[in-house]
Amino acid sequence: KNIVIFASGTGSNAENIIHYFKNNTSKSVVAVFSNNSNAKVVQKAKKLGVPSVIFNKDELYGDFVLSKLIELKPDLIVLAGFLLKFPEHIIATFPNKIVNIHPALLPNYGGKGMYGKHVHQAVLDNKETETGITIHFVNEHYDEGRIILQEKTSISDCRTAEEVADKVHKLEYRFFPKTIDQLI
Ligand code: GRF
Repeated sequence: KNIVIFASGTGSNAENIIHYFKNNTSKSVVAVFSNNSNAKVVQKAKKLGVPSVIFNKDELYGDFVLSKLIELKPDLIVLAGFLLKFPEHIIATFPNKIVNIHPALLPNYGGKGMYGKHVHQAVLDNKETETGITIHFVNEHYDEGRIILQEKTSISDCRTAEEVADKVHKLEYRFFPKTIDQLI
């Protein structure tokens, strides 16, 4: 079974997922797709022996990315810190095969512009005592697809967005690979 990951940034989730499936004989990460050739995720993938596919916006919303995906026959497409709107023609081609992870408890703290530190800062500003992660299917609206899994963590001891991010990342590392495994 083939897993493809889309990521735009650091790629610590991508790295963790690649590690998780490294010794699996039936499921593996076959490529990392990124819109940013300088992203750390691209170096990480290279180090771990996973090929990357780099593309620009025109190639994402045009034919290039779709045709690469069709070649790779993904059983699951995983968005892990992918910051561009996912194209509708790709969603339509792979129904129920595209998942995203969001670093908060949707439907709260989701939508356009709600990513990374912005999310964690908004959570702190609202004096929330807990936050969490949401793994969900991707549809044509940001962060609105059907929810697959949510996990919570207490943040009453957190003072900064970095501290919240740390706790959320721990949940992501623990639950995202497992959920991908189960979905496939
Ligand atoms: C994660 O917190 C994920 O939930 C969000 O973007 C972040 C990516 O972090 N969508 P990394 O690039 O995997 O380190």
